[in-house]
Amino acid sequence: EAGIRRQLMDLHEGATQYFEGMLKSPEAARAREYLTGRGVTPETIKTFRIGYAPESFNDMRERLQPHFSEDALRQSGLFSAKEEADGRQGQMYAKFRRRIMFPIMNEAGKPIAFTGRAIEENDEKGRPVAKYFNSPETPLYTKGQVLFNLDKAKSAIKTNDFVLLVEGQMDCISVYMAGVHSVVATSGTAFTEMQVRQLARFTHRAVLNFDPDNAGRAAAEKSIALLTEEDFEVKIVTLEGGLDPDRYVKERGIQAYLAALRGAVRYADYLIERARQEFPARTAESNVKAMNYLLPHIRRMPNALQRNSFALDAAQKLGIDSGILLQEVKQAAAGRV
Ligand code: UTP
Ligand code: MN
Ligand code: MN
Ligand code: MN
Ligand code: MN
Repeated sequence: EAGIRRQLMDLHEGATQYFEGMLKSPEAARAREYLTGRGVTPETIKTFRIGYAPESFNDMRERLQPHFSEDALRQSGLFSAKEEADGRQGQMYAKFRRRIMFPIMNEAGKPIAFTGRAIEENDEKGRPVAKYFNSPETPLYTKGQVLFNLDKAKSAIKTNDFVLLVEGQMDCISVYMAGVHSVVATSGTAFTEMQVRQLARFTHRAVLNFDPDNAGRAAAEKSIALLTEEDFEVKIVTLEGGLDPDRYVKERGIQAYLAALRGAVRYADYLIERARQEFPARTAESNVKAMNYLLPHIRRMPNALQRNSFALDAAQKLGIDSGILLQEVKQAAAGRV
């Protein structure tokens, strides 16, 4: 029914205002300290509408209940309900508690979901909590369809003709506030074809700056595949010191970060270097592994000239016989139109 979406939109706006207000409350002193400690300024808080979900199980529901239907509250994804013995849903309580709240906006800049960051490692009972916690899928929010900050970034993506992709909300916020406005975050979830097509409306150039850890490297490889499939020109930034973009900007400064962006390498060079590091032994076995690692990426290249030059480059840098690699590429490419 048409009414529920409208109600859920209003409810998310109401919840955003509630969290924003709570961040100013005495209870949020720890949260404000935490944000200050991470270099999050009042301007940043305002720009991204950062808020705080308090400890209370009931306060938010009590505040919103007079304005929204039971159905809207249940479908918002912001509450859980205890199930009664007879199977009926009982009283609703707040899912997000004691968390810094980041609204996730749709392309029009309206909040449609939240991600909450814990400020303590453990809950009230001393059990460890997830660092980040997200809204579930709702009638408003489908995970693989939304990119964090696309609402604010899209005009800059068009103007700069590139999009900078980072993993985390905090990475995105730091980089944006430092002046690189064409940045969006995948929010640690798998980057999807749908998101690539969204971006393709604004640019066909992407710079990836995922975390320099195994998860980040895996995400980069998957993203390279998705982006090249849609004819994006892809470059990769690797930050030194094991820092993610947020920490890099804060510890080394924006000039150093901009220099790192300018140093972004073409994805083909990045992959060859990855193959060299992952399979360093120049034995036949290791060469086969390096080749198998690169072949799917070479196969995706849209034209034969590109495939050949990638293959020749890889063969030379890895010390593989270029004839054999080219032969494999030809076979792999045989299925292409
Ligand atoms: P990271 O572990 O790199 O976190 O996860 P981060 O972004 O650097 O977070 P800070 O700096 O400690 O605050 C990258 C992204 O993966 C998602 C979040 O979107 C996070 O920004 N994530 C991470 C989750 O969804 N849940 C988690 O428990 C952890
Ligand atoms: Mn296109
Ligand atoms: Mn990480
Ligand atoms: Mn981080
Ligand atoms: Mn990180």
